Amino acid sequence: MPRGFFITLEGLDGSGKTTQIRKLAAWLSRRGMEPVLTRQPGGTAIGDRVREILLDARSTGLAPMTEMALMFADRAQAIAEVIDPALAAGRIVLCDRFTDSTEAYQGGGRELGSEIVLELHSAICAGLQPDLTILLLPSLDASLSRARRRNTRAEEQTGKNEDRFEQEKDGFHRRVWEKYREIAAREPERVIRIEGDLAIEEIHEQIVEAVAERLLLTGRKA
Ligand code: TYD
Repeated sequence: MPRGFFITLEGLDGSGKTTQIRKLAAWLSRRGMEPVLTRQPGGTAIGDRVREILLDARSTGLAPMTEMALMFADRAQAIAEVIDPALAAGRIVLCDRFTDSTEAYQGGGRELGSEIVLELHSAICAGLQPDLTILLLPSLDASLSRARRRNTRAEEQTGKNEDRFEQEKDGFHRRVWEKYREIAAREPERVIRIEGDLAIEEIHEQIVEAVAERLLLTGRKA
């Protein structure tokens, strides 16, 4: 059985990842390649509990190292329970965020640096790399205002305040944004960057083009 194909979506909160991952999943399904969809943090029963600690605005005083260790704890569980078995079964895995998020948010945003993130990734995730990463980089202002609007709506509906990250100051988000650009420049083969405030359909077309090209290289029809 040939190994599956691992695709990750990355970007700031409010960059439109969730919409795009759904559209890509539907596109793949229509071509008979039903993907396994997952997200980080979360995506497993244990990961969902870790996610609650990480995103709850009441988790005040979480040390940056604790935050990073919890992100990797969540990821280790997702790899063991979801990602590795799906890839071994030849499936396409679509994951909303992966280690690039840790490098951007904890490495860049929290200023822990890239080195420690990459070392932990190699120790905890056995260096598992996505075959393709799609990085959505609309302008910082557009992402932030969308993420904040969305959280206010979600809090009104659920009573849960899950915006510990969005509450951060603009400097934090700028560092995340810059670290993402650095990762894309360092790994141009793996990371496809989609920049600018484009329409949903335009972004979808660019994503589909990149995915189809890579899948063809692996000998799949797309
Ligand atoms: P989520 O509600 O899933 O946001 P989004 O839809 O934007 O992905 O929240 C995930 C938050 O966790 C997001 O603010 C980014 C942050 N995060 C990290 O800081 N480090 C990580 O390694 C991961 C996976 C996420």
